[in-house]
Amino acid sequence: MPDAPISFARGAPAPELIPAAELAECAYAVAQRDGATVFSYGPGGGYAPLREWVAARHGVEAGRVVLTVGGLQGFVFYAAEQLARRPGRVLVEAPSYDRPLKILAREGAEIVALEMDDEGLDPEALEAELRGRDDPPSFLYTIPTFQNPSGRTLSAERRARLIELAREHALPVLEDDPYGLVRFEGESPASLLELEGGELVTYTSSFSKTVAPGVRTGYFVLPANDAAAFEERAVSTYIAPPFLPQAVVAEFVARGHFQPNLERVCRELQSRRDAILSALAAHAPSGSSWSHPQGGYFVWLDLEEADTTSLAADAEREGVSFVAGRSFFSAGSSNGATSARLAYSYETPERITDGVQRLMRLLG
Ligand SMILES: Cc1ncc(COP(=O)(O)O)c(C=O)c1O
Repeated sequence: MPDAPISFARGAPAPELIPAAELAECAYAVAQRDGATVFSYGPGGGYAPLREWVAARHGVEAGRVVLTVGGLQGFVFYAAEQLARRPGRVLVEAPSYDRPLKILAREGAEIVALEMDDEGLDPEALEAELRGRDDPPSFLYTIPTFQNPSGRTLSAERRARLIELAREHALPVLEDDPYGLVRFEGESPASLLELEGGELVTYTSSFSKTVAPGVRTGYFVLPANDAAAFEERAVSTYIAPPFLPQAVVAEFVARGHFQPNLERVCRELQSRRDAILSALAAHAPSGSSWSHPQGGYFVWLDLEEADTTSLAADAEREGVSFVAGRSFFSAGSSNGATSARLAYSYETPERITDGVQRLMRLLG
């Protein structure tokens, strides 16, 4: 049987990163103990003990936390609410996570992509955009830590400048941070939420990368005045979220599994990150460059000349997949044509090395 294709396309954890046995025990325990609650309707904002745990970690009232069906569902609520209240363009990083770009396009939003470099979003680009037009943007969507797709992290200085600009222009900011805890080296800079205090900044994260994506449990920490309207969107969409997976996460945390599991996941990811960086250093053509993430799932590769959309098609035939750079820019943009997002989260170090070699052979 031919080997399964090597996937750099999936921003998903390898099966061995998922703590399935512990989750199964937690699921059985909560269903036995608290079945009448977890199998019923309940508060739209989610399972109270988990809400309280998230609230305590962020030092806010539990009423400001809403648990969503994955972070992405919450993005849909946030974008719709924000665009209804304050219509206008949405500022994003160039490149940015492809699914929110599609959601924003579907909402009919004008998307303005701001330049970024190795230190993350360029505050001068943000400043020029804010000063260049009289009508205020609806909000800024940013992934400051181990960004999807680039793996880059916004520096501490730039974070401070971004918050200054947000305050000066009363700019709402959505800080999307599912990867921040998945750090395997270096110091964590303060989050935008910590720097700003949570009046303009809404913070979102998820248990997809720290526990398992299948629990579909994301969360939002909202400004005090915005939480009720956000929760109302959740209620009018699905009445209440599924409580069983949220209770499973709460039990996983209560049993003390969260931190040791996170440390194991970080160790595993670090060896995969090391494998991809070594393979690129050994085999990438001269002139190409790539990001050096200290955490998260992704490396952003720029090949300088190759068209990565056609490379992706050739690579499929060689049993390797990745997402071409163009997907991470708004439709119609010609940016990203020579770039690729390589996810190192799904494959073993050996298969990563093999996959990079196969990919680079295609470049001649
Ligand atoms: C930047 C970013 N935000 C949000 C999500 C959504 O994750 P989930 O809906 O699984 O919480 C992802 C998933 O890969 C992501 O990369």
